[in-house]
Amino acid sequence: MQQLYDPFYNPEVSYEENLNHGPYGAFADGEVFTKEGEPENEYFGNPVYLPFGIPAGPLPNESFTTAAFHKGFDICVYKTVRTRAHKTHPWPNIVPVDVDGDLTLEKAAQGLYRKDAYTSPIAITNSFGVGSLDPDGWQPDMKKAVQKAGKGQVLVGSFQGTNRGEGEQAFIDDHVLGARLVKETGAKVIEMNLSCPNEGKSNLLCFDTELVKTISQKVKEEIGDTPLVLKLAYFQDQNQLVDFISQLSPIVDGFATINTIASAVRNKDGSQALPGEKRLKSGVCGAPIKWGGLDMVSRLQQLRTENNYEFTIVGVGGVTTVEDYNEYKKRGADVVMSATGAMWHPYLAQEIWKDQ
Ligand SMILES: Cc1cc2nc3c(=O)[nH]c(=O)nc-3n(C[C@H](O)[C@H](O)[C@H](O)COP(=O)(O)O)c2cc1C
Repeated sequence: MQQLYDPFYNPEVSYEENLNHGPYGAFADGEVFTKEGEPENEYFGNPVYLPFGIPAGPLPNESFTTAAFHKGFDICVYKTVRTRAHKTHPWPNIVPVDVDGDLTLEKAAQGLYRKDAYTSPIAITNSFGVGSLDPDGWQPDMKKAVQKAGKGQVLVGSFQGTNRGEGEQAFIDDHVLGARLVKETGAKVIEMNLSCPNEGKSNLLCFDTELVKTISQKVKEEIGDTPLVLKLAYFQDQNQLVDFISQLSPIVDGFATINTIASAVRNKDGSQALPGEKRLKSGVCGAPIKWGGLDMVSRLQQLRTENNYEFTIVGVGGVTTVEDYNEYKKRGADVVMSATGAMWHPYLAQEIWKDQ
């Protein structure tokens, strides 16, 4: 069992409270972990000490990303932004969930119950609705976050398109604008989130290969040499994954996977755990989804080897220990990231670094 520390993103208070007063726990102690020598790894040509970090989500502004860099997470993704202000779902945005072992797709389809407390192995659901400030709010902050990355560290900017019901062309244009706005901050790598529900024609945009291809081509034309990583959900259908990767690997530079696994989450009395419309189902993350991230990384690695593709693989999902990091690396991940595990274990990057 892993020791759980106070989380640096505090689920007990609102998103706004976190933005204004976070980070919390050890991320607020001001201590900086420094590494000696020269960085021996790289992320798209940017030197990094440790190819490990925190994916889009728990780092909603520069105060969080800088604290994460200080604690040795060398690749940090600034939480996904949009081209216009977008409201975050009301509190609570994170609750603990009861999962026995792996959250298989069958178990996820049956639904889950909320747990009373956060315990190890950590399992949560998160539901934010990918809120965003207006670009006037997030651009200067993301720019500062980029500049605060230390030696051997990289800040990644994540964005997603917004479907405002104005047709497909408007949706494509929104992605191009989003990418341009992120590039303007100086972010060295750009990640496009395709794994958020309710955007695009299919349920998840990453399952609409043709549209993703069109968007990615336009976005690459806009950002030029800046590397573009696509954030993907778990693909159940191997043929669909093979087709997606064959179409997208000539266009983009990397794939980060997985996002969360969706499931209905209820209180013990059967009522909806997260209040509000369309919030019965939400994304589950943490230890029980590791199988999904490892499986996707293995399948991407196999495709890369068989076809001599050159994309970078970012392994995400259920990383809570040094062993989990090593398992992802063994499966073929070039870079590994932890959201839930890191939230409750601020020293995870340091433990991995000391194990190298
Ligand atoms: C608090 C929280 C917020 C998240 N928000 C985003 C987001 O804005 N964009 C995104 O692409 N993924 C988001 N995610 C998903 C994570 O990037 C990651 O893919 C997922 O949590 C699985 O990793 P984990 O098991 O280490 O948590 C979020 C996750 C958490 C825990």
